[in-house]
Amino acid sequence: MELIFATYNPHKLSEIRDALGPRYTLQGLGDLNEKEIPETGSTIEENSLIKAEYIFKKYQKACFSDDTGLEVSALNNEPGVFSARYAGTGHSVDNIDLLLSNLIDQKDRKAQFKTIITYFDENGRKFVFEGLVHGKIVLEKEGFEGFGYDPIFQPNGFKETFAEMSLSQKNKISHRGIALKKLLAHLTSR
Ligand code: IMP
Repeated sequence: MELIFATYNPHKLSEIRDALGPRYTLQGLGDLNEKEIPETGSTIEENSLIKAEYIFKKYQKACFSDDTGLEVSALNNEPGVFSARYAGTGHSVDNIDLLLSNLIDQKDRKAQFKTIITYFDENGRKFVFEGLVHGKIVLEKEGFEGFGYDPIFQPNGFKETFAEMSLSQKNKISHRGIALKKLLAHLTSR
């Protein structure tokens, strides 16, 4: 089965190719010579939908997209949809520094990562899969693995931040891992 994944990210593509196995031929936006799809939504759900809908309308093929954000309780669920560009520079170090400074003296450190995968089947039927991981923002960066906010996010039930875990350990419990498992269960149940 052919599937389009609305991403340029080669890491996400190879991770999902690996999980899907040889039954599926997965193409990314780079393979289709697509330009960046503007993420103009005001929520994670909207941005995920915008990307998948754009690709389905254009190619009329089964496709999906993912969108992720970090929601911090004491900051009214910010940075949320602005997670990638919270500090305006697009650099993770700056995003982390801003988040930590906005939480100085804040006792409530609760946060969650949310991934929304939007999937359109070849007939244009839409399915939405959510992956949530609850945890907290630690006081300072810990660990060097992963990317984004991993060094300051500690999932509930663990003593380590995501950046102190191996990729395979993180994928087992992560927001993206959970949403992806739901998509895979859907695809393989057909
Ligand atoms: P995207 O929608 O997957 O591109 O994620 C948007 C932004 O959320 C990224 O640029 C990161 O800052 C952050 N993010 C997404 N997933 C993760 C993760 O697994 N760990 C840490 N940060 C993440």
